[in-house]
Amino acid sequence: MAGLIPKKLAQKFDEEIRFFKGWIDKPKAVGAILPTSGVTARRMASIVNPSSGLPVLELGPGTGVITKAILERGIEPQNLYSVEYSAEFFHHLQSTYAGVNFLQGDAFDLDNVLGEARDQQFDSVISAVPLLNFPMEKRLAFLGDLLTRIPAGRPVMQISYGPVSPLPVGRGAYSVEGFDFILRNLPPARLWVYRRILV
Ligand SMILES: C[S@@+](CC[C@H](N)C(=O)[O-])C[C@H]1O[C@@H](n2cnc3c(N)ncnc32)[C@H](O)[C@@H]1O
Repeated sequence: MAGLIPKKLAQKFDEEIRFFKGWIDKPKAVGAILPTSGVTARRMASIVNPSSGLPVLELGPGTGVITKAILERGIEPQNLYSVEYSAEFFHHLQSTYAGVNFLQGDAFDLDNVLGEARDQQFDSVISAVPLLNFPMEKRLAFLGDLLTRIPAGRPVMQISYGPVSPLPVGRGAYSVEGFDFILRNLPPARLWVYRRILV
């Protein structure tokens, strides 16, 4: 039977089943009903600057759709650090994207998770962590921490499914940009970009 399904389609089913399983086990932590679409993943990865010479930090890679898009931007696997909370997604990612620095842990506790790389500066951050499931003070601390890990002016890209930014304007030294609204995603997704500003 498996031989009748084209390999790419079989892989997509596999990802979606893995996603549903993660969602059933921990719906609040997964935060979406289906993996991010390829269109969305490529839009998110478009902010990466492959010539900066700095690695990229990805948070909440899930099934790896965005990981793939980041690598396709020309980032070498060893220059991508990717933090995933779920053990199941983590093992799947490790076996799928060789050479990427996958770290299993909490994106809200990066000093611990990054270990020896805790002082590393990154080119940019791409996050699919479901921020709306966390209290505002925790979200603000999360963004504050991320902005110290990239050069001033470089972006933190965040996907979210609500109508407004999960991080409001005026709560810290950061700018908020509505980067895109993507209908070709289930559910439709908004992309937000945050940058450190000098006050
Ligand atoms: C909306 S899903 C991302 C989906 C992913 N873009 C995909 O298409 O497969 C959110 C992901 O963030 C992970 N996550 C949630 N909370 C996290 C945390 N505190 N630290 C790291 N990862 C987290 C979840 O396990 C899940 O993989």
